[in-house]
Amino acid sequence: MRTLVVYYSLTGKTELVAEAIAKVLNADIRKIKEARKRRVPFGFISGGFAAMRKKGCKIKEMNLNLDYHLIFLGTPVWGSKPTPAINAFISKADFKDKKVIIFVTMGAIGDKSAIKIMSDAIELKGGKIINSFAIKTGGIKDEKIFKQGEDIGRQYRNK
Ligand SMILES: Cc1cc2nc3c(=O)[nH]c(=O)nc-3n(C[C@H](O)[C@H](O)[C@H](O)COP(=O)(O)O)c2cc1C
Repeated sequence: MRTLVVYYSLTGKTELVAEAIAKVLNADIRKIKEARKRRVPFGFISGGFAAMRKKGCKIKEMNLNLDYHLIFLGTPVWGSKPTPAINAFISKADFKDKKVIIFVTMGAIGDKSAIKIMSDAIELKGGKIINSFAIKTGGIKDEKIFKQGEDIGRQYRNK
């Protein structure tokens, strides 16, 4: 089974989860990169506001092909919403008849509304959400975050 992991990550936590899932499933992995580098503090603040208004942003050109049996799509939660970068990816890619598993990382809260917004947007584009996962990263050691990603991946091994 061909599996793809696509993710956006600003500070590396979502990346840990994405890499763990890809490792366990021997999946292809792609990082969504913003066209403009976000700097502390203004890039973070403006990003939070853009996320809260469900905006997209400019992302670097990337492979948008989703010709896989299963697609994991991951983002941090910003202001209880998905990030502008993941919004931009969802608006560009063709999800018709694609099986999608959403994963989000967050300090502590906001996963449910972020997952709902992503699910709605993907379903509007013809995709099918088959599951979703939320991983808390606030005060959690990187090894534990990575392990949670491995646990998610293991659930889809040999499926
Ligand atoms: C602009 C911004 C907004 C955030 N908003 C939330 C939030 O609403 N709820 C939350 O629990 N964490 C929030 N966080 C924390 C991140 O979701 C969390 O640290 C995440 O795991 C970071 O993922 P990353 O390292 O892949 O970028 C926010 C972080 C940033 C930079």
